Amino acid sequence: MAENSHEKTLAALGVTQSEQVAPLFAQLLAQAASDLQAVHSADAFEKFRVQWLGRKAGVLTLVGDNWLKPASKELKPSVGQELNKFKAQLEAQIEAGRASIESGAEEAVSAKDRVDLSLPGVVRPIGSRHLIRQVFQEIEDIFVSIGFSVVEGPEIETPYYNFEALNIPEFHPVRDDMDTFYVEAHLGATTGSGVKTPPGSLLLRTHTSPVQIRTMEKQKPPVRVIVPGKVYRRDNPDATHSFMFHQIEGLAVDTDITFCDFTGTIEYFVKQYFGPSVKTRFRPSYFPFTEPSVEFDVSCIFCDGSGVVANGATCGKCKGSQWIELFGAGMVDPAVYGFVNYDAKKLSGFAFGMGMDRLAMLKYGIDDIQAFFQNDVRFLRQFP
Ligand code: FA5
Repeated sequence: MAENSHEKTLAALGVTQSEQVAPLFAQLLAQAASDLQAVHSADAFEKFRVQWLGRKAGVLTLVGDNWLKPASKELKPSVGQELNKFKAQLEAQIEAGRASIESGAEEAVSAKDRVDLSLPGVVRPIGSRHLIRQVFQEIEDIFVSIGFSVVEGPEIETPYYNFEALNIPEFHPVRDDMDTFYVEAHLGATTGSGVKTPPGSLLLRTHTSPVQIRTMEKQKPPVRVIVPGKVYRRDNPDATHSFMFHQIEGLAVDTDITFCDFTGTIEYFVKQYFGPSVKTRFRPSYFPFTEPSVEFDVSCIFCDGSGVVANGATCGKCKGSQWIELFGAGMVDPAVYGFVNYDAKKLSGFAFGMGMDRLAMLKYGIDDIQAFFQNDVRFLRQFP
């Protein structure tokens, strides 16, 4: 406050006439208003409030003590009247000040939390489906269009489903080609018992063929399924081998399925996938769970099945053989039906297991299978 008039008596201020009283209060009120202008925080407001309304030494109390109480008889009525007016106006000013301080504080808090919609957003790059996933979809669509449905099975398998039920007994030499990773699982992990499965009782499946058995156990014939999924082998990585890769299994079993149905289905698929000009051939092969068994080849799509490339050099992809091996297949061995309680005398069927990664490599001209798993976005972006 500029001058502390309220600390003096009216006599000391030279006020003798009642007309001098109102301007004195008006001055004081103007002073309060100007002090309030400088108040911008809750703490400063409280200090201001105590300074003006404080019971012991607030301006209002001192005005009562110094101006009203000692006022002469003539002045007292007008001082009392003006003091009442002053009190009401001062309190109104202080209330208005409190409201503005509180709403200011609220605004400050909400400004902190407020989302500024005019700011530029965070641009997150949009991902796309991995080429392997896209090829899965492409192959699924082809088989679904001719009546197959899609099923899945576990990647951690028992040796029974992965080998025995597929007519591959223990110590059968075929197991050497499908060496894999054996795992121990904690049984009752949720109860914390920590009991482990016996060593060798679980493995990472080496192919999708165990799902043939799982499907036939669950379903009566006719069966027409394809099984996409990951498989694992203890293979050393190179341009065409990975220890984890993808297969798509196919199985059709019914009462009158012949080798012709098998070749017709496979050829239909290959022509849909690679295009009508591709040539196909079957070669005799061996799988314990199919009889007869075949390997299925397509004419090399890199040299159009000629074995040589434009400059007359031998084609590096088919190594001049004109053919590229695609997958193994065959008619389901009757021994397999014995494991799933199917009547081998009435039923027949075919099965195939394609290496998905190699199918994708062939179609999209990728010469190293490792590119699929290195997560190099420059590679992935080529297949949006
Ligand atoms: C099998 O896995 C049989 N289960 C296929 C089958 C199913 C035959 C049903 C008969 C009836 P094979 O071991 O050949 O067969 O593997 C099938 C395909 O998987 C191969 O043609 C190849 O394309 C792919 N493949 C095999 N090993 C690897 C590997 N380490 N990395 C990438 N692809 C592989």
